[in-house]
Amino acid sequence: MDIVLMGAPGAGKGTQAAKLEKELGLKHISTGDVLREEIASGSELGKRVAAIIDGGDLVSDELMVSILKNIVAGTDKGIIFDGFPRTVPQAQMLDDMLKQLGRKLGKAVAIELPEEAAVQRLSARKQCKLPSGEVKQIGPDFSLEECQKQGGEIFQRPDDTPGHIRHRFAVYHQQTEPVMRFYRQNGLYAEVNGDQDPQAVFEDLLAVLKK
Ligand code: AP5
Ligand code: MG
Repeated sequence: MDIVLMGAPGAGKGTQAAKLEKELGLKHISTGDVLREEIASGSELGKRVAAIIDGGDLVSDELMVSILKNIVAGTDKGIIFDGFPRTVPQAQMLDDMLKQLGRKLGKAVAIELPEEAAVQRLSARKQCKLPSGEVKQIGPDFSLEECQKQGGEIFQRPDDTPGHIRHRFAVYHQQTEPVMRFYRQNGLYAEVNGDQDPQAVFEDLLAVLKK
């Protein structure tokens, strides 16, 4: 089953998608991570999108879908889409893409979190860049101490500054909230309360996905 995991910046999409990947044997695709990996690799594509992402705007629907197509076609596993679709046209293109590949979306679940709580989380969030170049998020599965032990470098995402966080929320309200209405209309929409500890959010997600 393919799943869309939605929610505002900082709602906990990445944290929960990683847990669901392990528990349900799905493939986690974070479009934000895919784009950040392109930037880190120094590719032409990465150079084109760096300023857009660091500033908190969205890359174009066509570019996003073309990047995603190859990744989706390359797996037989069920997929958790984290951070995609972010616009109604992306949601329509996802439908078409899945249909062409003989796949089907099972649910679109939004993690709900008050904006202030999300802003606090993002301002405090830290990343770890390991000597191999791999980036891990500091959290329950990878501690600050573990990062230091492995010789990693601790940093903040460039879009996690207060001004960029506010801009990401504005973009989210304007361009991504309509996607929730899109999924409500086709009966795939569900939501969970993200303002609880990560394990409680995870259990609520599992319950919603089993329905
Ligand atoms: P993306 O990387 O998707 O960023 P985002 O949507 O703003 O979401 P975040 O990754 O910041 O938050 P999250 O919900 O994953 O929360 P997390 O689990 O990390 O996108 C970045 C950019 O890429 C976009 O702005 C855009 O430019 C571009 N882009 C991406 N997709 C695109 C698309 N489809 N189209 C066009 N452009 C696209 O948690 C946050 C923090 O809270 C962490 O520190 C975590 O440890 C902590 N935390 C998590 N859960 C809890 C909890 N329950 N209690 C307490 N703390 C918690
Ligand atoms: Mg994320």
